[in-house]
Amino acid sequence: MIDIIPSGASLGAQVRGLDLGKPLDAAMRDTLLTAWHRHQVLVFRDQDLDDDALIAFTGAIGEVQMAPDSDVTAGFGGFADVSPAITTISNIVKDGRKIGALGHAEADWHTDMSYLDTPPSASILYAIQVPASGGNTAFCDMYAAYKALDDDMKARITGRRAIHDFTYTSAGVLRVGHKEITDVRDTPGARHPLVRTHPDTGRKCLYLGRRINGYILDLPVAESEALLDLLWAAATRPEFVWEHTWQRGDVVMWDNRCVMHHRDAFDPAETRLMHRTQIRGDGHS
Ligand code: SIN
Repeated sequence: MIDIIPSGASLGAQVRGLDLGKPLDAAMRDTLLTAWHRHQVLVFRDQDLDDDALIAFTGAIGEVQMAPDSDVTAGFGGFADVSPAITTISNIVKDGRKIGALGHAEADWHTDMSYLDTPPSASILYAIQVPASGGNTAFCDMYAAYKALDDDMKARITGRRAIHDFTYTSAGVLRVGHKEITDVRDTPGARHPLVRTHPDTGRKCLYLGRRINGYILDLPVAESEALLDLLWAAATRPEFVWEHTWQRGDVVMWDNRCVMHHRDAFDPAETRLMHRTQIRGDGHS
């Protein structure tokens, strides 16, 4: 028996009574998927997992997607001594090299790997070391954001696509081999619809991905900028946001199709080490 305790906010729930290190049976998998589709973000506290167990849990939920190649261009990939399925998120520097992504700085609101044509449907983040304070991760509900738009705005964005920038990481690091974008119409990265229908729930949501260098195709640049600013402000309204304060041993699984996330900065003198897995997306638009 497990308990599912909603956060009380627009999204997020804690699942109690489950050891993710043990095999999931089909009934429990269904229960978790139902809860995940309903709450968009699930938190499991007090887990004790090695990488194999984290990957096994991920594979029990869906198809494991390897860590992004783009890590290399952000200057941290291929250094950490971990499985290629694991994305290391950390500010730790070992032998003069960063072992993971994002450092200690704030990470802007984003959807993981939305610069790909088929971004992962889920990210599963496991906390191995956490700072005493800071480094919280906030999530926003993109179903609620879409629903709250007025009919005029819904009509303006329906059928439109936007570019999801590849040149910068969400921590504002320019990827190796890329240069500043001077015209957002030339931004490299995937083109995704602004409004998506979630393949499992059938619900519509806003899909924004990342703000920097974003561009709504076929609009004058100034109009695209103004519209993106409105949409981003609408998506990250406080009533659509819920924030997770990490403890060591937490696992948080979020749905990249209908959620964006943002990571607070923390004291660089402290260390934060997280291992993330990804579930392959469906390319659904
Ligand atoms: C991520 O953006 O996938 C990591 C978020 C975090 O470090 O909390």
